[in-house]
Amino acid sequence: MRFTILIVDDEKNIREGLAAALGLDGYAVVTEAVGGEGWKRFQRGDIDLVITDLRMPGLGGEELLRRVISDSPGVPVIVLTGHGTVEAAVAAMRCGAYDFLTKPVNLDRLSLLVKRALENRELVLKHRRIEEELEHKKRFEAIIGTSLAMRRVFETISRVAPSKASVLITGESGVGKELVADAVHALSPRKDKPLVKVHCAALPDNLLESELFGHEKGAFTGALNRRRGRFELAHGGTLFLDEIGEIDLNMQIKLLRVLQQKKFERVGGEETIETDVRIVAATNKDLKAEIEKGAFREDLYFRLNVITIFIPPLRERKEDLPLLITAFLREFAKENNKAVEGIDERARAALYGYEWPGNVRELRNCMESAVVMAKGGVITEGDLPPTIQAKTDEGWIRIPFGVNMEEAERIIIRDTLSFLKGNKSKTAEVLGMGRRTLHRKLSSAQPPAVP
Ligand SMILES: Nc1ncnc2c1ncn2[C@@H]1O[C@H](COP(=O)(O)OP(=O)(O)OP(=O)(O)O)[C@@H](O)[C@H]1O
Ligand SMILES: [Mg+2]
Repeated sequence: MRFTILIVDDEKNIREGLAAALGLDGYAVVTEAVGGEGWKRFQRGDIDLVITDLRMPGLGGEELLRRVISDSPGVPVIVLTGHGTVEAAVAAMRCGAYDFLTKPVNLDRLSLLVKRALENRELVLKHRRIEEELEHKKRFEAIIGTSLAMRRVFETISRVAPSKASVLITGESGVGKELVADAVHALSPRKDKPLVKVHCAALPDNLLESELFGHEKGAFTGALNRRRGRFELAHGGTLFLDEIGEIDLNMQIKLLRVLQQKKFERVGGEETIETDVRIVAATNKDLKAEIEKGAFREDLYFRLNVITIFIPPLRERKEDLPLLITAFLREFAKENNKAVEGIDERARAALYGYEWPGNVRELRNCMESAVVMAKGGVITEGDLPPTIQAKTDEGWIRIPFGVNMEEAERIIIRDTLSFLKGNKSKTAEVLGMGRRTLHRKLSSAQPPAVP
């Protein structure tokens, strides 16, 4: 990583002397003569270390220090002081300066100090990345599913993650596309580098362009400072383009160009910036149909879609329901400090019978509210959101998946009896069993077990 150092001093000789010395050490150096300009330069956002004089006309070094620290606490600031102003330097240290140097500046000492400060900064950045990485690991483990479809998804993730191939993740809303994108990054060699996410549908196209590519100061009204775009921020890492199906044709061309040439310019900028990013895109649209309609470029589609990971809707992999239900129940019981441990069979039947148009997200929300609503240790049908409660049970018996024959029989007897308003002889007749058999079964009947 090449670090950029900002030097602010009103004395030209010092500015230039320090800049030359640090330039020789291999850093990129920018200088400003006035505190106010220094602050403006800093706000462009690409400075890794600041060296500032304390006494300057206009915006003084101490104020600049304060602003930098409160804006970017991770950026070290070294202050320069003249003879006899050591008290001011000490005050600056209290404000959070990394260290101070007295003039005339000993260049060897400067060089050492800068090296140490930047090593420190690199550690801070690395530490931040490690925390993110742990988060990602948790996330990969967090993808729950044992259905054949999900096992295929896991297998594809582990196979493509190590490569640099573009991945297109498709599936309805709420099936877990973002979780999969997290896993692709977390299991790739780029895991120590950033995973940058862009929600393409959330921004109008002109803003999306500067969001992706960044912009130069004054590129458009409101562009007060230079800003690095997501492509730049994701350098060396992964760029997740969510809802890729929503971008307009004009942006599609621009995106295609970056993907082909691996370079771009900031909006309003001349400088060509090289980029090394791995693209993971997601959409809940049928991009092939969009291509037919002329709304999506085929060439871009092929660039993005080197590997496809399709996540089927939850209703097509209901085998995953028991695990998901249990996991979410535990998660929310813990989060809400409630001793909810199970779910009764009617509630379970309602969950299995439902079509889950909102997929796993909807199930997760549903389990959260059910746990919150539950009065006892067991979730009942009444604790579920009304849309999910079995629409009308009149005339139907619902038997949840996973019960054995004995339990099924108990449910049949209980519900028939209740449908016939407790009339036992009628119940026996309907079920085709003798009254005595019915009595025996009723008296031996335990309440159905709560799985
Ligand atoms: N297999 C899974 N195991 C555990 N949690 C899951 C699973 N799939 C999805 N989730 C959870 O469901 C929610 C929605 O997932 P995610 O945001 O990844 O969906 P999406 O496909 O990106 O949806 P959208 O298209 O609406 O953006 C998240 O809270 C996620 O943690
Ligand atoms: Mg998503």
